[in-house]
Amino acid sequence: MFMRKIALAAVAAAALTVSAAPAMADDAGEIEYRKAVMEAIGGHTKALFGIINGRTGNNAHLASHAAALADLSQTAAGIFPEGSDFGDTAALPAIWEQPGEFEQAVKMFQDAAATLNTAAQSGDMSAIGQAAGGLGKSCKNCHAGFRQKDNR
Ligand code: HEC
Repeated sequence: MFMRKIALAAVAAAALTVSAAPAMADDAGEIEYRKAVMEAIGGHTKALFGIINGRTGNNAHLASHAAALADLSQTAAGIFPEGSDFGDTAALPAIWEQPGEFEQAVKMFQDAAATLNTAAQSGDMSAIGQAAGGLGKSCKNCHAGFRQKDNR
């Protein structure tokens, strides 16, 4: 009963935060949000490689991480709003100065994540390994051109 109350309070608090968000959204908040999403992407990627490299026995989790990455890759285009280039961020101005190239980098990531998700559902370990390599390349590709090197 007590836990249920806490859960309900958390839901209410989350609802409040969401409804207040549009009025309070600012560049610092957008940067914080972008980093949080990237951390989530990083977490799933690390977990996935831990499974592929046999450093954990949680093979059954592979599909979950791949699905989450495919999902999160779709949010990637929305986490770089105009104005979020100044402040505590490693995002380079090239993101907004070369929108065509940046869009390509986002697309490469989305395609790689989708391919990995399909492979993960098939259970074919060699296809999964190859697709995971492609995913890793898509991170590096974007970070190389659009993220400050000293902030890894
Ligand atoms: C389309 C470009 C792009 C792609 C693709 C991309 N990233 Fe990033 N990533 C960035 C940028 C730009 C930053 C810097 C964000 C900032 O400081 O505001 C970043 C930051 C990060 C961070 C640090 C977040 C923090 O707290 O400062 C991690 C971890 C990360 N990325 C992991 C990944 C992984 C893993 C992948 C691939 C599965 C990936 N990223 C794909 C552009 C990208």
